[in-house]
Amino acid sequence: MNAAAPIRPLRGPLVGTVHVRGDKSISHRAVLMAAMAQGTSVLSGVLDSDDVRASMRAAACLGARVALAVQPDASLAGTIEGFGDAGPKEPASPIDCGNSGTTARLLLGIAAGVGIRVSLTGDESLRRRPMRRVSDPLERMGARIDLQDGSVLPAVVHPTLSLHGIDFESRIASAQVKTAVLLAGLNAAGTTRVREPFPSRNHTELMFPRFGVDVLDDGCGVSVTGPVVPRACALRVPGDPSSAAFLACAAALVPGSSVCIEGVSLNPGRTGFARVLASMGAAVEQSRFDDGEGEPAGAVRVSYAGPLHACEVPACSIATLIDEIPVLALVAAQARGTTVFRGVAELRVKESDRIAGIVDGLALLGVRAWSEGDDLYVEGRGGAASPSAVVLDARGDHRFAMTWAVAGMTGMAPVAVRGLGSVSVSYPGFFEDMRALEHPL
Ligand code: S3P
Repeated sequence: MNAAAPIRPLRGPLVGTVHVRGDKSISHRAVLMAAMAQGTSVLSGVLDSDDVRASMRAAACLGARVALAVQPDASLAGTIEGFGDAGPKEPASPIDCGNSGTTARLLLGIAAGVGIRVSLTGDESLRRRPMRRVSDPLERMGARIDLQDGSVLPAVVHPTLSLHGIDFESRIASAQVKTAVLLAGLNAAGTTRVREPFPSRNHTELMFPRFGVDVLDDGCGVSVTGPVVPRACALRVPGDPSSAAFLACAAALVPGSSVCIEGVSLNPGRTGFARVLASMGAAVEQSRFDDGEGEPAGAVRVSYAGPLHACEVPACSIATLIDEIPVLALVAAQARGTTVFRGVAELRVKESDRIAGIVDGLALLGVRAWSEGDDLYVEGRGGAASPSAVVLDARGDHRFAMTWAVAGMTGMAPVAVRGLGSVSVSYPGFFEDMRALEHPL
């Protein structure tokens, strides 16, 4: 089961058009807000992945009726009848959030002020991830939450009904933290406001009005005023830019490639990877259309345009590409010069310690990468391939499974990857999409 799977190098450039599957962040929010809403929401384009399934199971445990079915394009579509005005029911047993940090953190916010006892747990990786970043502000709002060892899952949310709004200044730019506090704010009396050092992804703010919730973004912070019960709506989830990034990065690396990814979220809070690829010398075009769904969406085309060069990614851009840093580091490894990603401390507390994973994995590929303080440096080797075969470990982290697969497919070295199965956490169609674009010479 844990054997390393050899990765077959591409037989030619990546050429063509592809639709990646639904956005994971937006899918979580659509499922969980539909569960909270009064009435029956109609959802389509929902990502069918392990993480989103964890949110669907959680929604059902809290009393929502989840009827999403797999469609011919492998997305999930159907209805969710929310618990709405009646409030959630107390789950009989702990809710298992699997590997999904978004599920766990958003649920803490949803369960905080609704008068029921909710226990949350997760897999080994999730049980190591910090939860006080969410429980601290929720407790300031009046919630009572016990965490294992005061900081991690399992968590118990105790019944409380009297949350009050707070003005919360987060130390980190985290959409999970912001969303958890705003979701709790729906059940709190008065205004809940969240401020961040840099803007994090704004899917929650864009989705609230769709569910009839007024949200105010005054440029310095986002606020909601409760109590308010979301109202059911119809919503289509656009494609996932974080999935698109793997195809885009591979196209930027392989001569002759030109890949168009259609129907993808072009939310600027998510497309930092495309800006970095452009600044490293890839050809990047975005064609945006407004599909009336609240989220900017459209197509992004990335083409090989010659050897890549290093760049500096400032701390203020990190939130726009936080999940793409492993694969961007791989691109940087093939560029000329030293790329620096500033202010990436958050990578240490993702599904794995991603700074350690990047440094160790690139070392096996013959590339020097290191951290200094909160910055990550990658000394590119300018496109040379390493002849010796390497076994790279995904460390149970889906982003590494795909990053190391891209290393093997783009011919950086003969690569085998241990733990490829974790791809199903966010991008079950990854290999299918890559192979569909492969254009044998
Ligand atoms: C997510 C936000 C980001 C991201 C994660 C999904 C979300 O995490 O890394 O994969 O859906 O809100 P943080 O909020 O911790 O930065």
